[in-house]
Amino acid sequence: MTKDIFGKALLDYQNDNYSEDIITWTNISDKDELPLPYLFRTYSEMPKLEQKALQLSKGKILDVGCGAGNHALWLQEKGFNVKAIDCSKGAIDVCKLRGLKNAEHIALLNETDTFDTILLLMNGTGIFQEIFQIAKYLNHLKSLLKPNGQILIDSSDISYMYEDEDGGTWLDLNSSYYGELDYFFSYKGEEEAPMKWLYLDFETLNTPCQSVGLKCEKVMDGEHFDYLARITLI
Ligand SMILES: C[S@@+](CC[C@H](N)C(=O)[O-])C[C@H]1O[C@@H](n2cnc3c(N)ncnc32)[C@H](O)[C@@H]1O
Repeated sequence: MTKDIFGKALLDYQNDNYSEDIITWTNISDKDELPLPYLFRTYSEMPKLEQKALQLSKGKILDVGCGAGNHALWLQEKGFNVKAIDCSKGAIDVCKLRGLKNAEHIALLNETDTFDTILLLMNGTGIFQEIFQIAKYLNHLKSLLKPNGQILIDSSDISYMYEDEDGGTWLDLNSSYYGELDYFFSYKGEEEAPMKWLYLDFETLNTPCQSVGLKCEKVMDGEHFDYLARITLI
């Protein structure tokens, strides 16, 4: 069961109690800091991929895994009808404190309304958690799309994380997909229950999209093996 450490950190930052960052690590990488200010980024501080996703957004919009609500708030300011959801209660409390009108504490699989644009940003495929769950999540996202609707989602090909300094790779081709990570984080001495977090290269996202009757196109590449994809009904 999650302790909602992520939500606590967001609430601290929102309430001017910022004194330290979240520490993250994975089964294949060492400890790293996730700076809280980054989780409160403005449009000009966002990666180009995220700016592009906001520019492509249209109609009634759902921001899935909204965190502190940066994308949803920008869209609300531009006059869009936007709903933000997150499974972290603290994140939704922060969205409301920041003035987001429509923010709900629910997990993606419990959302039932329909939308013209669905955003999943900051490694949006992470929410699928594991390869075997991709089809279930894609089918659910498909059920939330209005006719001519679109899903805008970003991810990264993390095969570079398995490379040595001399260019050799230690990728084990017999094990499960290399983008399936065990993700850990701690904040102010408290550790969250480990979770699964999925990074997908474009082809590994494209193939299951086709299987469930969705079209997947790459919109743009980012600066470091990341990309933005647009998924639509066929
Ligand atoms: C990496 S953060 C990204 C936050 C935000 N989109 C941003 O760009 O700053 C991922 C978010 O997804 C939320 N999340 C994870 N699984 C979810 C699910 N199944 N349904 C809804 N939210 C989820 C987490 O609580 C977290 O706030």
